[in-house]
Amino acid sequence: MQNFTYCTPTKLVFGKGVISRLPETMGLYGKKILLTYGGGSIKRIGLYDKIRELLKDFEITELGGIEPNPKYSTSVVEGVKLCKAKGIDVILAAGGGSVLDCSKAIAAGACYDGETWDLITNKVPVKAALPIVDIITMAATGSEYDNGGVISRTETNDKIGFGSDFLFPKVSFIDPQYTYSVPEKQMLAGVADALNHVMEQYFNSDPNDFADGMMEASMRSLIKNVKIAKKNPTDYNARAEIFLNCTLDCNGILALGESYSGWPMHAMEHALSAYYDITHGIGLAILTPRWMKHILSNKTEGRIANYGVKVFGIDPSLPERYKAEKAIEETYALFDNLGIPMHLKEVGIDESRLAEMAHHVTEDRSLEADYVYAPLSEKDILEIFQASL
Ligand code: NZQ
Ligand code: ZN
Repeated sequence: MQNFTYCTPTKLVFGKGVISRLPETMGLYGKKILLTYGGGSIKRIGLYDKIRELLKDFEITELGGIEPNPKYSTSVVEGVKLCKAKGIDVILAAGGGSVLDCSKAIAAGACYDGETWDLITNKVPVKAALPIVDIITMAATGSEYDNGGVISRTETNDKIGFGSDFLFPKVSFIDPQYTYSVPEKQMLAGVADALNHVMEQYFNSDPNDFADGMMEASMRSLIKNVKIAKKNPTDYNARAEIFLNCTLDCNGILALGESYSGWPMHAMEHALSAYYDITHGIGLAILTPRWMKHILSNKTEGRIANYGVKVFGIDPSLPERYKAEKAIEETYALFDNLGIPMHLKEVGIDESRLAEMAHHVTEDRSLEADYVYAPLSEKDILEIFQASL
């Protein structure tokens, strides 16, 4: 078992109607709020009006229009300017992971005198940040319970993950009812993202039974409940179970004591969404079975087979290699049957920039390091992209 340090200081307030507790929470952090949101979904579902009504005694500045795959040069820069000009005390992020990630970058930039990009690229460590409270309206990233964010800089095709313990939200309000209105494509992408978060941790070189059990339970729960929510988008229990999984799947708690895998599929997907602005979870669903197939070897077959037995109920008595191959097929079929596009060409990506993207992945961070579960060279990455076309 690996040594670990674990601490998540975020308070989770989960369930129907929990945002009625918003005023007392915001009151703990000050009067001047920057309310951040996306392209309008919070207005359509009545959440915006509810927030304005609950917070009528606060001084609210707004930053709306934050895009999926949030952009540095527009939203982050604008948000930092607003915080500094208005002396903002606390940020309230209402929306999906993109709104929250953008808010984390703004929270750090607001307490720094230089370019916020220095903090995102980790050139300068984050030493302070404004407090963040969120009302997360989409089950996907787990940003509501982690200390990281992902910001895109279109001009340079960068999509960069950054993190700091100053960036854990103080409080995350999670009312699964807000996810009823999430478009089916986004719901499926969110579940694919969460499943992949578990898989990125599950495929590592030093597993333990306790962590494995939690991760296997999470994957089974996601697979069962996404099918229910697809049929009946207002099934509260299915939505709640999906959200609980998504919230816990990305902050490390499910894989305590296991070794770090390098998160190769995320590294590759971030290149796809940086170059083509595609939906993160869809990119991951496309890459996942191709990555599994590419890394299948004598070293990895036992682990992939075990995943197949525990998650998809494959007969444990079958030969290891057969179970592993079946597990990869089941993974592909799961996404395909849900209706997720399973080829890059279907999301507008052709062969023209695959080599450039593969090179970009290796420039950002090395997937060839020893700690990576199945190290990948630039050539491996290119082959995985090609197999995904
Ligand atoms: O912009 P609005 O109008 O709000 O619409 C959004 C957006 O179009 C919509 N939506 C959200 N909640 C809704 C809703 N529509 C109707 N009803 C609701 N209740 O859904 C669309 C997608 O939203 P977005 O926030 O982009 O989705 P998601 O939560 O999946 O976030 C994706 C971003 O998070 C990053 C991804 O790379 C991507 O940039 N990630 C962040 C991570 C983290 N912070 O830990 C980890 C992840 O691996 C991931 O990389
Ligand atoms: Zn992800």
